[in-house]
Amino acid sequence: MSADFLIRAARLADVEKIFAMIHLNRDQLISRSVGNIVENIDRFFVAEAGGEIAGCATYQVHPELGDARSATVEVQSLVVKSAFRRRGIGRALVDAVIGRVSGFGPRDVVALTFAPEFFSSLGFVQIPKTKIMHKLYTGCINCAKHTNPFVCPEIAMMRSLADDTGEKR
Ligand SMILES: CC(C)(COP(=O)(O)OP(=O)(O)OC[C@H]1O[C@@H](n2cnc3c(N)ncnc32)[C@H](O)[C@@H]1OP(=O)(O)O)[C@@H](O)C(=O)NCCC(=O)NCCS
Repeated sequence: MSADFLIRAARLADVEKIFAMIHLNRDQLISRSVGNIVENIDRFFVAEAGGEIAGCATYQVHPELGDARSATVEVQSLVVKSAFRRRGIGRALVDAVIGRVSGFGPRDVVALTFAPEFFSSLGFVQIPKTKIMHKLYTGCINCAKHTNPFVCPEIAMMRSLADDTGEKR
């Protein structure tokens, strides 16, 4: 059976809808300004379903996590509108991100999330937050929800792409 949604690269015309989805889910996601989304539009994917933008995801390469030849990639701003959840759209968005970044040769993909079951179902495993210290201090430093990143209940999850290729770590 073919999926009733389409994953595609985002366009500038999608920016306001991407902003609205991230803003609506600001309890789970780090906020982004419209300008930030515009600057990073080439790294965003969107899902189209039922004639609307139903979800989005993007990524960031972190040279400080890993080394220069096998930096870590973080899945960011992943959201599916509530009416479209549990149809495989979130999985397809993460697959699109991984498909895009696999060509760069990163060793690991990470996510900081309140949806660990979702990421487990995609082969991610929980890791100690201390493993991604740099991300916590650079990415989380502007979050005002908690006194510091280590008391934030978000869970760090990682999937090794080396396992996908059979490469030795
Ligand atoms: C997390 C999120 C993106 C999942 O999107 P989705 O389109 O519903 O996910 P999928 O349909 O692709 O789910 C794939 C699998 O993940 C697991 N899963 C997804 N949502 C789950 C949930 N709420 N509880 C438990 N397992 C879940 C299931 O195993 C599911 O497969 P199944 O439906 O066949 O059982 C969506 O719930 C969301 O936007 N949440 C708010 C924002 C957020 O937390 N983003 C993640 C930040 S990193």
